[in-house]
Amino acid sequence: MPLPRRKAVLVTGANGEMGHGLIQRLAQSADADVIALDIRDIDPELADKCAARIVGDILDPRMLERVVAEYEVHTIFHLAALLSTRAEFTPETAHEVNVQGTLNLLKLAVEQSRWHGRRVKFLFPSSIAVYGMPDLETKRGAGAVKETEWNLPSTMYGCNKLYCEQLGRYYARHYRQLAVDSTDAGVDFRSIRFPGLISAFTVPHGGTSDYAPEMIHAAAQGLPYACFVRPDTRISFMAMPDAIDALMALMEADAERLTSHVYNITAFNPSAQEFAELTRSAFPGAQITFEPDLRRQGIVDSWPEDVVDTRSRTDWGFAPKYDLRRTFEEYLVPNIRARYA
Ligand code: SER
Repeated sequence: MPLPRRKAVLVTGANGEMGHGLIQRLAQSADADVIALDIRDIDPELADKCAARIVGDILDPRMLERVVAEYEVHTIFHLAALLSTRAEFTPETAHEVNVQGTLNLLKLAVEQSRWHGRRVKFLFPSSIAVYGMPDLETKRGAGAVKETEWNLPSTMYGCNKLYCEQLGRYYARHYRQLAVDSTDAGVDFRSIRFPGLISAFTVPHGGTSDYAPEMIHAAAQGLPYACFVRPDTRISFMAMPDAIDALMALMEADAERLTSHVYNITAFNPSAQEFAELTRSAFPGAQITFEPDLRRQGIVDSWPEDVVDTRSRTDWGFAPKYDLRRTFEEYLVPNIRARYA
């Protein structure tokens, strides 16, 4: 008789911004053990929220075998990735981590499903980086874009995310379609194209939407901040609690109601100037200047001003709780103040 294994939710990229928020939430609500996986030592803050903490590389198949030796994985939140700015410095490495890493996890999902006989839910954070507007005039003219429009990313990260959405759809619907014994791969792939995310508790690393969170975290610490995009730069953003709620809601959604594997979501889309003004009114001494980095500016300019999120609202009831005012007044300012007090 094989040893009984415990039912588990696997979270890759556990130390990242989303990993932190998600693991706190899963620890409160999950009926399964949380396995936290990251390439670096798992943050001690998360220690008591996880049944297992595994330090390892998602490109290492032996490490992934260790994960499933003890646990039966029913749900995967595959958050590990190299973000858009970082990926431009080492594009081939980014491709390995972002694409081959995702493929390894999809394969693990297939194998797990074969073991326990249920479909493995695979939650994948995609991004507004999958869009690519050719120039500012087109960006301004396009306004809010639908999932099917402007899928022409200019970054390695955006290409990786767009392709991994397709890989997920392939595993969910067409896996080994020509095999004599072809059966459902058992992968229930669901992905969200997130806008820029802002957390009160962590700062992002290596992203290109980082100017907004960096600005407010610097202001709260009394540090000067030189914003790397122009004041008129506009993309959509969301407060981290809404992003985590969205991941949980999509995970829990009834499969029959889902008409797609890919969903846009958004909450607000201030310009960098508007974001700076709100930061200055919350932290009157804030020293914010604008010193655009033309190349990072080019990346943000290729991302749409806004996205259409009707599909998420209709299929799984997405509705953000934090608009821009509430994000500042009720989430960012009190929590960031307390953090740096
Ligand atoms: N926030 C991410 C980045 O800037 C986009 O998904 O790379």
